[in-house]
Amino acid sequence: MPKYAVIMPAAGSSERFGGSEKKPFAKLDGRPVFLKTLEAFVNREDVCQTLLVVAKEDAERMRTSYGANLAFMNVRLIEGGARRRDSVAHALREVRDDAEYVAVHDAVRPCVTQEMIDAVFAEAVKSGAAILACPVAATLKRVSGAGVVEETVPRDALHEAQTPQVFRKDLLLDAYSRLAADDPVTDDAQVVERAGQAVRLVASDASNLKITVRADLSLASAILKSRPTRAVRKMGAFEEAQW
Ligand code: CTP
Ligand code: MG
Repeated sequence: MPKYAVIMPAAGSSERFGGSEKKPFAKLDGRPVFLKTLEAFVNREDVCQTLLVVAKEDAERMRTSYGANLAFMNVRLIEGGARRRDSVAHALREVRDDAEYVAVHDAVRPCVTQEMIDAVFAEAVKSGAAILACPVAATLKRVSGAGVVEETVPRDALHEAQTPQVFRKDLLLDAYSRLAADDPVTDDAQVVERAGQAVRLVASDASNLKITVRADLSLASAILKSRPTRAVRKMGAFEEAQW
């Protein structure tokens, strides 16, 4: 079985989210978002290491309030950087030798499912670089500085990139090592694209949302509630088997 190291960036400043508490710490159905997101990965047999990247100013609070949870889940804390790419680069230095693949997943995408993870993990083994993405649903306008529509952008081939983004470790390390210091990449796939490597899309849907603004918390809660729990599903299968 291929082994995956999971890097979970949580070191951003949550500017669009606003308020006094950063979004990874915000409560989703009573628990911090980052814990919910971690839980999707830490019990998987194919995950051999989990690195949670937090801002320097949050490390103390993280240890005091959640140290026991992190120890129980075998999660290691890594200090973040100014840009998301710096946070990921810091964690990449700590990836263990036995991990053949690295999966990067935003700490603020708590609705990711095991099926989504299975699919993108499997595609990374086939092609070396795979990301979850969903077709763009909105009508997109390119707008001038004066707020006038210049163009409606055809959306047929457009997809919204999500995470997990999963790569063969050597390929991701090589791509990061070549990245120009001032390159304004916004995801890891772009780092790999810059290195000339093809990145495969794995179909996802809007339910794997990234919490960006405060209203996304209610959306995430509704999405989680709308899903049957694993126990219920198993019980359903069991009942079916009885018939
Ligand atoms: N992130 C990070 N280090 C950074 C910037 C972002 O680890 N220097 C993380 C965020 O904590 C988040 C993920 O990358 O889990 C996706 O980034 P985004 O949604 O943009 O979060 P923020 O940068 O915190 O939010 P904003 O852009 O609104 O400030
Ligand atoms: Mg950001």
